[in-house]
Amino acid sequence: MPKINPRPEIQNTLLDQHGALDFKELENLGISPDEIIDFSVNSNPFGPSPAVEEALQRVVIDRYPDRESLSLRKALAMKFDLKLEEIIVGNGTAELLWLVAMAFIRPNDRALVLSPTFGEYARSVSLMGAQIETLWAREEKNFVFSEKIIHDALEKISPRLAFICNPNNPTGITHSPETIASLAKSHPKTLFVIDEAYIQFVPKMPSSISLGLPNLLILRSMTKDYAIAGIRLGYAVGPSDIIASLKKVRPPWSVNAAAQEIGLASLMDTEYLPRTLSLLRKSKEQFLAGFHNLGLNPLPSETHYFIAKVGNAAKFRSQLLKYKLQVRDCASFGLPDHIRVATKKPEENEILLSRLKEIY
Ligand SMILES: Cc1ncc(COP(=O)(O)O)c(C=O)c1O
Repeated sequence: MPKINPRPEIQNTLLDQHGALDFKELENLGISPDEIIDFSVNSNPFGPSPAVEEALQRVVIDRYPDRESLSLRKALAMKFDLKLEEIIVGNGTAELLWLVAMAFIRPNDRALVLSPTFGEYARSVSLMGAQIETLWAREEKNFVFSEKIIHDALEKISPRLAFICNPNNPTGITHSPETIASLAKSHPKTLFVIDEAYIQFVPKMPSSISLGLPNLLILRSMTKDYAIAGIRLGYAVGPSDIIASLKKVRPPWSVNAAAQEIGLASLMDTEYLPRTLSLLRKSKEQFLAGFHNLGLNPLPSETHYFIAKVGNAAKFRSQLLKYKLQVRDCASFGLPDHIRVATKKPEENEILLSRLKEIY
């Protein structure tokens, strides 16, 4: 029988590698997922809004969800002063990234990725046959890019897509809306995908949504700030023609009824984010001080997560996992000697810090 192979792009693409729990790994170690304190995922550690519980009661299970997520889009349109056609809701930002790749990448198009960064940009476009052009940040500069270096790379490469994770995962560094506007205006043939999945974790950080440029698409996640990662919810904001193209490649009903109901309830609870994010900022100060006291000097980060150089990150991670503590090994970001940790509740941070004191 002849073998039926998938497309070559698929054969050459690695499986995705992320933080969060690896259920199979935990089963092998005989640890239940509920026992782990997970510092490898950058979500709000204070849990979802109390409104979520009630919203779950309202979910209609035996009816297809609204394919257009209309109520949620109306709420978002109101919040950001946008037209409905400028917003699309997705099954997490991850789905939206894939829609962008599917809608805009033609074989051999170039896509610019500023590394180290979230791995799904490269994965999604390479599956569509793009050539990935990676611009590496320098460790000596604490992984901060100058605007000029990005301009020069864009000039040289002239990519069809450029991904900017803002704030960046895993480093927590940011670019100002002025920089984003300058890049987008100087390179009108490139579609800039600005991933603001973690923007709420940077106090008072302005969004690029209000720039409203024709080659700017902003991705936002609701899974991290609202602590609803299990539900999967994100949205993209951009010019209506770009949003219309994303709609064409979207699988039907990808945003389920529970996600829509919970997303809306979370947005409506205007007290939730200020309360929990201010607790998180205090918690970060305590956590960071603990790291410095141990001589594990994290790199400057504007978010509640940060990276630190530890030598062999894989070994470091597995040592901690035995104690039911999980940190992110940054090897898949191209940083095999760094870990990434996200701030959790003060009492959880203390558990990690005291364990580190023992073993480090
Ligand atoms: C930078 C970045 N963007 C997007 C995502 C995916 O977010 P979502 O849970 O909304 O799919 C992640 C998840 O880790 C991320 O780190």
